[in-house]
Amino acid sequence: MTSISEIPSLDLDLFTDDVLTDPFPVYERIRNAGPVVYLPRYQSYAMGRYADVRAGLADWESFSSARGIGLNDLANEATQGMIIATDPPEHDRLRDVLASRLSPKAIRQLKADIERRADELVAPLVRQGAFDAVNDLARAFPISIVLDLIGLPQNGRDKVLGWADAAFSASGPPGPRTDAAFPLLEDQLAYLSSIERDQLTPGSMGRAIYDAAAAGQIRQESCVPLMSAYVTAGLDTTINAISNAVWYFANNPEQWDLVRHDPTLIPSALNEVLRIESPVQFFCRVATCEVDVDGLTLAAGSRVMMLYASANRDERKWENPTRFDVRRNPVDHLAFGYGMHGCAGQGLARLEGHSILAALARRVERFEVGAPVRRINQLIRGLDALPTTVRPVAETV
Ligand code: HEM
Repeated sequence: MTSISEIPSLDLDLFTDDVLTDPFPVYERIRNAGPVVYLPRYQSYAMGRYADVRAGLADWESFSSARGIGLNDLANEATQGMIIATDPPEHDRLRDVLASRLSPKAIRQLKADIERRADELVAPLVRQGAFDAVNDLARAFPISIVLDLIGLPQNGRDKVLGWADAAFSASGPPGPRTDAAFPLLEDQLAYLSSIERDQLTPGSMGRAIYDAAAAGQIRQESCVPLMSAYVTAGLDTTINAISNAVWYFANNPEQWDLVRHDPTLIPSALNEVLRIESPVQFFCRVATCEVDVDGLTLAAGSRVMMLYASANRDERKWENPTRFDVRRNPVDHLAFGYGMHGCAGQGLARLEGHSILAALARRVERFEVGAPVRRINQLIRGLDALPTTVRPVAETV
């Protein structure tokens, strides 16, 4: 085995405005430098190649989540016990609570309702002709769906989105951005703590969490972190996926024509949007023992950024990775993570994405977009505004 000192070290800052706006050249440098690189600024390592990220995510015994998935101690402490920051058996207990609610069977039961909601949202926007694809389309949709499923009271819902955005950003490296995000994460936890079980809609996912605690399946103090995980994970991720889809289809009209004329391409198209513009850029793991990463030895205790977004553009894995191709069908992308922590809500996210794309495909012939405004967040990538005009298909005018 090679020695630890042979892991290449790169003096990169991944969190400047410029890099957060366009991280892909930096990811390419990381991939080209080696299977794992050391980033001295964060006293952490990073993996950017598809094969290594996937293998690392699959090996939870060597790459633990229980010491936190972020880059600063405060967030790693605050998220302790959240599903995303646990290992088995605690992880499995928490994951089981809502597993049946998000199973393929349960998602099929939501299909008609979510498709109806997508139609009701899209039809007036298309009639209107001009809208903001982020605020009016991408945000409006998951907010109502996810918060209804969790069963949150109407009161306070308007703040949830800002909190969810901050809850991701709070896991960045120590610094002003993290300092600004952290109090909002605390506000989110305080708000969720203030909600009594009986204020949650009967039959909702939120109620199921409290019922699991009452039945002794999970500890009472796990309820708020579990609610927080689903609220946080279920919003900006899907929001970014939907607005990125509009942006890519506006810039690649021939790809939109393919989808419009053959809507069976919609699942492949959504996978391609998630691959090329992965909403979650990275989460960390901590090595529990000395681990071999493609010939380089990582010491026990090393914190490693798993760069999903880089893996999804790794030229070792994908042919012409910067080409947006709705026929590629990249079913094995890592935008939902992989392995034990692989996204618990991906069935729901896919249903939301497919329903919106199908509703648009029935009505929109062309998207035209103005300059996108990027939302700067340390963990997730997406837009803040996307002025959009649409040319409707003839029969829907
Ligand atoms: C396009 C939309 C989405 C993307 C890109 C996404 C991405 C991810 C990723 C990358 C992870 C892996 C975390 C890790 O490796 O540590 C994850 C986990 C998770 N996601 Fe999603 N997600 C999306 C939508 C959703 C939705 C709609 C929900 C629920 C309403 C959800 C709930 C969760 C939960 C609870 C976890 C933690 C799972 C665990 O630790 O076992 N996600 N997601």
